Amino acid sequence: MGEEIFVSPKKRGRIAVFLSGRGSNFRAIHEAVTAGRINASISLVFSNVETAPGLLTARESGLEALYLNPKLFPSREEYDKQAIREIRKRDVDLVCLAGYMRILSPHFCREFKNRCMNIHPALLPSFPGLHVQKKAIDWGVRYSGATVHFVAEDVDMGPIILQAAVPVLQEDTEETLAARILVEEHKIYPHAVHLFFEGRIEVRGRRVFIRDA
Ligand code: GRF
Repeated sequence: MGEEIFVSPKKRGRIAVFLSGRGSNFRAIHEAVTAGRINASISLVFSNVETAPGLLTARESGLEALYLNPKLFPSREEYDKQAIREIRKRDVDLVCLAGYMRILSPHFCREFKNRCMNIHPALLPSFPGLHVQKKAIDWGVRYSGATVHFVAEDVDMGPIILQAAVPVLQEDTEETLAARILVEEHKIYPHAVHLFFEGRIEVRGRRVFIRDA
């Protein structure tokens, strides 16, 4: 059997952003959309946390913001199926996880294969999971950074789209390193979304090729 090749669509698209917290990556994407640097609109900002500051920001910006209470669903899959219904209703082409602190069900990952991105504050596959800036410092690495990747069933292990490295300094704390990485997150996440809707992202197996790079 030949290798399956995915190429992102070159079109004016629709984005759903999923978040659970402050939403600075959402704001970076929104700014890029507003400035015309991403050929898409944000059709939905979705959260599993009612009080997420990012959800409030979205509402204030006039975007549709939706909170879905996980406690109202019998399982992770049922919750995700409702989320999928909401996304499909709005004809969304790409889901951007931006600090969405809830593991997606295998069902969701399959339905949105190559159509769901995440940003992670480390150079994957090093330091998956949580508190990764502290883990990078404690391990003694000289460089860490940010990774934009497609979401796969293995958490933080999907195909890597873009990465940016930053030095880890001797005097770094978790907070100072996180801040240095965040600056890069805000550059590479909007850029990856831009490339997606330019039809320039090609996925072969677990490798991502940027066309006309
Ligand atoms: C970021 O560090 C991102 O890499 C991680 O969660 C954090 C979200 O921050 N997945 P924000 O809500 O986008 O400000």
